[in-house]
Amino acid sequence: MVNHKSNNEKNTDIKPNLSFGNSILILGAKSKIAKALASLYAKNGYNLILAGRNIEYDLKDFVEQIKNKYDIQIMVKELDILNFSSHEKFYNSIKQKPIGVISFIGLIASQLDNDSTFSNKQLLLNTNFLGVINIIDVISEDFQNRKSGWITAISSIAAERARNENFIYAASKSALNTFMEGKRIALLPYNVQISTIKLGPVNTPMIKDFKYPQFLISHPSKIAKKIYKIQQTKYSVKYLPSYWRFVMLILKNLPEKLYCRII
Ligand SMILES: NC(=O)c1ccc[n+]([C@@H]2O[C@H](COP(=O)([O-])OP(=O)(O)OC[C@H]3O[C@@H](n4cnc5c(N)ncnc54)[C@H](OP(=O)(O)O)[C@@H]3O)[C@@H](O)[C@H]2O)c1
Repeated sequence: MVNHKSNNEKNTDIKPNLSFGNSILILGAKSKIAKALASLYAKNGYNLILAGRNIEYDLKDFVEQIKNKYDIQIMVKELDILNFSSHEKFYNSIKQKPIGVISFIGLIASQLDNDSTFSNKQLLLNTNFLGVINIIDVISEDFQNRKSGWITAISSIAAERARNENFIYAASKSALNTFMEGKRIALLPYNVQISTIKLGPVNTPMIKDFKYPQFLISHPSKIAKKIYKIQQTKYSVKYLPSYWRFVMLILKNLPEKLYCRII
């Protein structure tokens, strides 16, 4: 269902009384991948709830573009995932609950000035793990009661096996993966799909300090297309691009001594 607006149909005001059914909640919506995915959902007629820090200001132009192009409704909501006590209030403030939620929230050590301090370790774990799981707990309670919906967390192939760099980030994503698996099992009887997407390197500011061979780096819009497609299916865990599943299978099964020598 593609819903392009003609010029005289344009309406940039959000009408609070219109139904927000069929909406997707995107957490960490300022990520390039998140924005590309939001555009795809909008193109396909879904309403959007975009959440993040300073989002009203930072996504102003993006929201205007989407509203001008597609006949959907967009709500922007301020969310700092580190403000744990605000999570419930944040979700309760969304009157028409979403049918699906995807979290792009993430922080990597290279984004911090000095990653070896305790407070930075805490910041990484609080952002990538505790913050994300706390909000997923809040949202999944509602989905469990409604016996429908899907929740997806964006994770990383880095979580599969440690390297000499960014292993606090890897540990936090690994903890997230384990949480998602537990949540998936817990919500199986309630018709709620809990999924994890493990990304390989994607061309976003997050990887600017890493030297990956160019051929291994995916484009955000390509990844968004793949996410949109698999989100229409029933799945638990997906690697994107999918070849990472085989690469990680080999790496995970390498004996420790050999792994430490080649990595
Ligand atoms: N790029 C890659 O190669 C790659 C590979 C594997 C996995 N991933 C994962 O993919 C997801 C998207 O990453 P990206 O590459 O698009 O990088 P990104 O642009 O840095 O996206 C991370 C998002 O998390 C948000 N965030 C961080 N701290 C937050 C907080 N306290 N409260 C609310 N939002 C917060 C950021 O918002 P602000 O702009 O406000 O900081 C940003 O929107 C992340 O979970 C990342 O770990 C990325």
